[in-house]
Amino acid sequence: MISKASACVATAALLFQGLSSAAATTGGCQALAAAGLSSQIYYPADANYIAREASYWAANAPLSPLCIVQPRNTAEVQKVVKAIAGSSGNFTVRSGGHGHWRGASDIHNGVTIDLGLFTDVTVDKKTMIASIGPGPNWATVFKTLEAQGAMVAGGRDGGVGIGGFLTGGGNSYYTGMQGFGADNVVNFEVVLADGRVVNANAKTNSDLWKALKGGSGNFGIVTRFDMQAFTAVPLWGGLSAAERKYGDTIITELINFTNNNAKNPEDALIVNFTYNPGMFTEIVVAMVTVDVKGAVAPPAFEQIAKVPTVLADLTTRSMSNIATSYLLAPGSQNVWYSLTFRADRDIVSHIAALHDEMVAKLLTVLPAADFTTQCLFQPIPAYIAQDRSNAKGGNVLGLDAVKDNALLWLITAAVQTEEQLAIITPYISELSAASNAYAKAKGGAVDWVYLNYADGSQNPLASYGAKNVKFMKDVAKKYDPKAIFQNKVTGAFRLNRI
Ligand SMILES: Cc1cc2nc3c(=O)[nH]c(=O)nc-3n(C[C@H](O)[C@H](O)[C@H](O)COP(=O)(O)OP(=O)(O)OC[C@H]3O[C@@H](n4cnc5c(N)ncnc54)[C@H](O)[C@@H]3O)c2cc1C
Ligand SMILES: *[C@@H]1O[C@H](CO)[C@@H](O)[C@H](O)[C@H]1NC(C)=O
Ligand SMILES: *[C@@H]1O[C@H](CO)[C@@H](O)[C@H](O)[C@H]1NC(C)=O
Ligand SMILES: *[C@@H]1O[C@H](CO)[C@@H](O)[C@H](O)[C@H]1NC(C)=O
Repeated sequence: MISKASACVATAALLFQGLSSAAATTGGCQALAAAGLSSQIYYPADANYIAREASYWAANAPLSPLCIVQPRNTAEVQKVVKAIAGSSGNFTVRSGGHGHWRGASDIHNGVTIDLGLFTDVTVDKKTMIASIGPGPNWATVFKTLEAQGAMVAGGRDGGVGIGGFLTGGGNSYYTGMQGFGADNVVNFEVVLADGRVVNANAKTNSDLWKALKGGSGNFGIVTRFDMQAFTAVPLWGGLSAAERKYGDTIITELINFTNNNAKNPEDALIVNFTYNPGMFTEIVVAMVTVDVKGAVAPPAFEQIAKVPTVLADLTTRSMSNIATSYLLAPGSQNVWYSLTFRADRDIVSHIAALHDEMVAKLLTVLPAADFTTQCLFQPIPAYIAQDRSNAKGGNVLGLDAVKDNALLWLITAAVQTEEQLAIITPYISELSAASNAYAKAKGGAVDWVYLNYADGSQNPLASYGAKNVKFMKDVAKKYDPKAIFQNKVTGAFRLNRI
């Protein structure tokens, strides 16, 4: 509940700000209150405000919005958008709050539109269409769907939210079978900048439908995702880890797996060079091996299975089980960078060695127990975009232009304090630059940056290619002619800042 006193203080502050900037229109929070939304507006001293700011995954993600508004339904989102669009204020949109960089889904001096109350998850048993609000996380979605025998291509970490994942692409264990998460959205319900609510699907507003499959929040606020579901079956697999000295063997298998994956799209692999002193004293090669059809130890992992392990948690289990077995804990300060490379043994081997060197250097500047790293490689073979995404109507990611079997690369570091984040960030950005330079020199750089993994300093939307950028800009112009979702959203990846 809103405390009256704090609301008064905030209103006074806003009035003062409005006067001092001599703005002709009112600030966002005042406009929301004037639109009759007071019960859903939270100000900085309110318990709801504090709880929502504390619920971001990364400790570096929360900022200090002037207020948070939590609409309860689509009609209230329409009111919210109309009020803010007509005000002098800026805003941002937040779904699951798993954006890992400062500004991804929170704002200073603006309004955070928090979709956390959009918790509906239903399945139509006849059409097998799952309707999912942007409020819950994937673990909740999976549990709800499994109870009805259904599953969708959602996040691998159950804590991740729906809105960012699906509008940014969405890589899941089912990507080989189904394409990206976004490819499986058959309809978006969207509130546009003028307050209208529209559906976007293959028949109606099909340009908006395609643009939302990778174009993030540049076109409106998605209030419901209708996804093509499929029958839930138990999958097999899980996390394992081997000593670093087996790295080259595992890299050979990673490349072989990637090049053969079209033949066994039910199998998914992640290779993760990681320093995690809570689990191991040395760098290890962690792996996630999964068969989404439930085949136990399938042939695609035959060679990898021969590598001696220091951890092996491979079992037959549900999607919700695996999604909640290895949750990356919230509350750390995080820095993530991402690039894409041709699936090439030397490139992976070189980057893994650069990661070893970086960890060694970090051990001289940070307490050994205070940081973790992950240097992850995920197969993105060419058939995924060409056969899966395109068959489902296509998206704007631009991966269909990549002819090589590729590896999506992610480097992450997590630390305890803001000071440590400032120390570690240049190491991560330098590792990223050095990795890219090496791949370029070898002719193996793929000019694609995954929006959901990218740092705020990267430019994922530009990496979709000129044709897709033009398409997204045309769509934005058509559905948001005043560019409200670009100009007033100061953080996040926006088309006007490409
Ligand atoms: C621990 C962890 C594990 C992860 N695992 C995976 C993985 O397996 N596969 C993968 O592909 N990615 C993964 N990611 C990345 C993840 O996809 C992104 O962080 C994603 O943006 C999270 O979505 P969210 O809704 O929680 O984010 P938020 O921070 O709420 O939003 C992210 C962005 O999307 C916009 N947005 C959100 N909802 C809407 C909406 N309804 N309408 C319009 N715009 C919206 C926001 O404005 C913001 O710009 C992981 C991230 C973390 C932290
Ligand atoms: C809104 O953001 C723009 C930048 O996009 C900035 O110039 C402007 O001052 C901001 N307005 C307010 C009221 O903070
Ligand atoms: C990477 O390795 C860590 C162990 O350090 C593990 O907890 C995590 O789940 C792995 N990440 C992925 C995406 O496989
Ligand atoms: C490469 O993968 C194929 C198909 O999965 C497998 O049959 C073959 O044994 C693998 N080769 C090596 C060298 O691991």
